[in-house]
Amino acid sequence: MAKLTIDGIEVEVPDGTTILNAARQIGGKIVPPAMCYYSSLKETGGKCRVCLVKVAQGSAKDPRPMPKLVASCRTPVADGMVVQNITSPDVLEARKGVVEMLLINHPLDCPICDQAGECDLQNLSYEHGLSTSRYEFERRTFEKIDIGDKIKLHMTRCILCYRCVFVANQLTKERVHGVLDRGDRAEISTYIQKAVDNDFSGNMIDVCPVGALTDRTFRFKSRVWFTKPMDAHRNCSKCSGKVVLWMKGDDVLRVTGRKDQHGEVKEFICNECRFEHKNINDWTVEGPRHIDHHSVISQNHYEKIDLIKLKKEVERQLEFQSGKKHLTEGNGLTQTDNHENNQG
Ligand code: SF4
Ligand code: FES
Repeated sequence: MAKLTIDGIEVEVPDGTTILNAARQIGGKIVPPAMCYYSSLKETGGKCRVCLVKVAQGSAKDPRPMPKLVASCRTPVADGMVVQNITSPDVLEARKGVVEMLLINHPLDCPICDQAGECDLQNLSYEHGLSTSRYEFERRTFEKIDIGDKIKLHMTRCILCYRCVFVANQLTKERVHGVLDRGDRAEISTYIQKAVDNDFSGNMIDVCPVGALTDRTFRFKSRVWFTKPMDAHRNCSKCSGKVVLWMKGDDVLRVTGRKDQHGEVKEFICNECRFEHKNINDWTVEGPRHIDHHSVISQNHYEKIDLIKLKKEVERQLEFQSGKKHLTEGNGLTQTDNHENNQG
């Protein structure tokens, strides 16, 4: 085990854990953002650099600081390590630079992009971005491509995080999709636009942190924040069948995997569940889904209420009103409680 501090908070994790995952165990604002690392895909990370942190002390044995900022998703912890994320002005400045680089070729088309409201780059640019661009040269643009009848590739928005390539490598049987060329010519391609036609290809849509890969069955149907996300399941022979239905009234507008608080799907779903069951009667609906607080879609939705906690809270309020207790005594209901109860 290794004991380290991240922004002054101590945490103990197994040897070999990355700084990013150690920070995720603490949770909250000190968790570095991640645009290319994806916990349920192997070998991801090390591409986007938004997760940079400062290692102010390498370890208890060798307390020298690391000479440069490091990618927290790829750097293992050491006993006695001291890490700075939001407490380091250098890190915040570097992250601003990374976001500016990612936005060099990325179009500012959030008003018409289906990913708006659940886009990691949109969130990051609100937190770290400049309101104007210093880039004066012509931007890279590409024609949109249909990858089969269900997925649209809009390469102009791609930040080359490689997550979709890892999905193609690790979840599907025949990989016909990857990154062609290098440097400013690099692009996601399916070799002569061959359709990605296999049972798990739709997961590329869920892992894409921007709107480069979108669901053709949902495109332009609704802004995500006007939909109601509901946990639902069905018996499926190919996957767990556990999904989120994005509903408007009784209509199922789209089906996605369930993302955790870091926006990552833990159980990938098959294309049949994703694209072919848009009827509410095909599903057993479990209840409203809590969406992570970073996103506008977390707003204005009913939460799953823990009735035991609610009863305790009512009793506590009554005791307070009768003068028997101070309001700060005992536990109140918090959104975090609901959120944690509702992940899965
Ligand atoms: S298409 Fe999306 S998931 Fe694939 S590399 Fe580009 S940004 Fe990443
Ligand atoms: S998340 Fe670490 S480099 Fe992208």
